[in-house]
Amino acid sequence: MKISHICCIGAGYVGGPTMAVIANKCPHIKVTVVDLNAERIARWNDDNVENIPVYEPGLSTIVAASRGKNLFFSTEVDKAIDEAQMIFISVNTPTKTYGTGKGMAADLKYIELCARQIARVATTDKIVVEKSTLPVRTAEALKSILDNTGNGVQYQILSNPEFLAEGTAVEDLLAPDRVLIGGGTDEAGQKAIQALVDIYANWVPKERILTTNVWSSELSKLTANAFLAQRVSSINAISELCEKTGANVNEVARAIGMDSRIGSKFLKASVGFGGSCFQKDILNLVYIAKSYGLQEVADYWEQVIQLNDHQKNRFARNIVSTLYNTISGKKIAFLGWAFKKDTNDTRESAAIYVADALMQEQAQIAVYDPKVEHPQVLSDLNYLETRDAASNAALVTSIGDPYAACHEAHAIAIMTEWDEFKTYDWQKIYDSMLKPAFIFDGRNILDAEAMRVIGFHYQGIGS
Ligand code: NAD
Ligand code: UDX
Repeated sequence: MKISHICCIGAGYVGGPTMAVIANKCPHIKVTVVDLNAERIARWNDDNVENIPVYEPGLSTIVAASRGKNLFFSTEVDKAIDEAQMIFISVNTPTKTYGTGKGMAADLKYIELCARQIARVATTDKIVVEKSTLPVRTAEALKSILDNTGNGVQYQILSNPEFLAEGTAVEDLLAPDRVLIGGGTDEAGQKAIQALVDIYANWVPKERILTTNVWSSELSKLTANAFLAQRVSSINAISELCEKTGANVNEVARAIGMDSRIGSKFLKASVGFGGSCFQKDILNLVYIAKSYGLQEVADYWEQVIQLNDHQKNRFARNIVSTLYNTISGKKIAFLGWAFKKDTNDTRESAAIYVADALMQEQAQIAVYDPKVEHPQVLSDLNYLETRDAASNAALVTSIGDPYAACHEAHAIAIMTEWDEFKTYDWQKIYDSMLKPAFIFDGRNILDAEAMRVIGFHYQGIGS
């Protein structure tokens, strides 16, 4: 099938950047990204391209180069479905908050709504591409809905999970380690796979485009995220042991990372991983394993989450105990709220949970994050439902200047590894703080020795 029109349902952190790069690299294809959220679409269309709703280094340039030429953002979902030969589904698949599988399974209601909408609208054959992260065997359910409620047109379902990481989305999309495409093993399935391979082949070397059956592709995405998160929990587990023994986790990570079988990436001890994917996808994997009666498999992966929760809790507990077991009314400055640097995304950020724990002890939290605004901070805390919105608003403020955020604070907690934190005038910050002045570096980004020379009581992770 010759693809001249692509539609992507879901203009979020994946749909937006992914389609911007496809449009950029395939000027012969018209790419329309649609979303129910009119405000989000309006921001993607903002005259000032710096106002697009996803902050990613390099993204605004890519969007500016293609928007209005062959890249469009729209709320007209039916129209975009109708004119496309290939439809990517890139909607959110959060953890279920109700019913069977509550707190574990992926909530597929948005996926099903997309399938029903495609089935209702389509009058020509379509290739439907799962871009969202989905439980293994979702393609079966999609096919059933499309075939049973559609207008008699033919559907091919492909799985094409996205491996980009936020903060590096553009470089990940431009030069991916691999592109994974799963599809049917019959002739029609293979033709559909080829149509998608042809799109990626416009910029991705052929040997990096991997094709598999659809179930392997679906399961590979959950597995990749589980393995990555497991590395972070593994090094974080060792960080606690380091703190008890006099070992230094940075040195341990370096030493083990030089073993080429282990590799050096993803071994940074931290206050705990966040982001919209790791926890959700592991919980989903655990749920799937349980649903097949594989209790040991489920328990194995669940530990990755438990260790991560422990890491966030012990970071908060350590702040309380170090500040003489009372933080009521004390100002604690949070440097960083995003779940990692170079993104404005805060979903599942460790900062939210640590702040919540400190607010239980009536601390006053002053947040500075270069890309996160106060309404987002409040909304993240309100979502936890630990206390009412007014109490949250009374305990947390956001301050647009890092020096002002730290002024007269008892302690600083570094929650995100933003590069700019390393360049601050730390002597000036020290001078303006209450004494003794504490730094809890949840990312190990500052020079411990230099901080101690200034006079700080400095604590990193795992040393
Ligand atoms: P997101 O919440 O940023 O975006 C999803 C968008 O889909 C929202 O704007 C929402 O309004 C829209 N939407 C939901 N239902 C819709 C419908 N029926 N019609 C039209 N629009 C609809 O989510 P995201 O972070 O882009 O993630 C999307 C998927 O990609 C998830 O399955 C996620 O697990 C996966 N994923 C995310 C990342 C990441 O880094 N964020 C990386 C790889 C994979
Ligand atoms: C992740 C996967 O990496 C990506 O392939 C997938 O498509 C989506 O989920 P993302 O969540 O955007 O990407 O960021 P990632 O770089 O994986 O970081 C996740 C969390 O782990 C962050 O909170 C990060 O700070 C933390 N982390 C990562 C560590 O604490 N230590 C590390 O060594 C690496």
